[in-house]
Amino acid sequence: MTAASLVPRQVTVRVPAKVNLELRVGPLRDDGYHDLATVFHAVDLFDEVTVTPAPEFSVTVEGRGIENVPTDASNLAYKAAEMLANQCDTDPVSIHIKKAIPVAGGMAGGSADAAGTLVALDALYGLNLTRTQLSDLAAELGSDVPFALTGGTALGTGRGEQVAPVLSKGKFEWLFALTNSGLSTPAVYRECDRLREGTDVPAVKPDAALLAALRQADAHGVADEMTNDLEPAALSLKPQLRELMEMGLQVGALRAMVSGSGPTVAFLMPDRETALALKRVLDTGDLADDCVIATSTHLGAHVITS
Ligand code: C5P
Repeated sequence: MTAASLVPRQVTVRVPAKVNLELRVGPLRDDGYHDLATVFHAVDLFDEVTVTPAPEFSVTVEGRGIENVPTDASNLAYKAAEMLANQCDTDPVSIHIKKAIPVAGGMAGGSADAAGTLVALDALYGLNLTRTQLSDLAAELGSDVPFALTGGTALGTGRGEQVAPVLSKGKFEWLFALTNSGLSTPAVYRECDRLREGTDVPAVKPDAALLAALRQADAHGVADEMTNDLEPAALSLKPQLRELMEMGLQVGALRAMVSGSGPTVAFLMPDRETALALKRVLDTGDLADDCVIATSTHLGAHVITS
């Protein structure tokens, strides 16, 4: 058997969406980023990334909202494949992405696809990269990419790219309410800076009470401690999200919070029944364009077929 025949013909990786249970934003740094203290939490909305050896790099996408996903070299998955080819001398691939993670929704869908591509190429070409090597490549691609490799629940520091797992025993129920017109992440950070202009922004550190609630699988404790410093900026740019958040609380959500830089709103729900009740309400009104129910997952990017 030749070495070439040992290379799998294609590899598919599943990779989860994230919600930031805590997103504390420190002062603007000289490199244009902000120091963060964040708690990432993966939920079971998975994109599937399939890589197949091909004469040249390409990206195709299927699923909801794909009209807003670039398929050229600006796609983060494309950049991931090119970066790996440059660093590890691997051949081009075609990348197919089946999207379940809301596009431009503050749930790190693009970052997930880049992480999935790295893991898929590692398996396709038998590179056996270490966690650290994959994580370093991921960090070059974007602040949220290393977490998508790890999944589960993790503390993010630096600009979010330094990830350390934290113990979370809870499997929480979520409803994510999506709106079609996105908010650009840089624009939301800029608005955050504008709103805080003239105030002294302290250094950020993670909240011990949230970490304790996660250890104890205490959904009410998590709800009490969830915080997002980007929320005022997202609400300033898209005030209509307030009504959506209030509706969720009225129907029984434990907490409503803008997810990441938005515009998706994350509702922490007490149980699946209440999540379904909120979905029915939102599906019949015009506060949200779509909504999806999800559960916490311990999974990160993982190979499902090769
Ligand atoms: O790292 P990533 O490309 O995902 O970041 C997108 C944008 O979000 C950055 O260009 C920056 O404007 C903003 N950002 C930030 N501070 C962070 C992460 C992202 O200001 N820690």
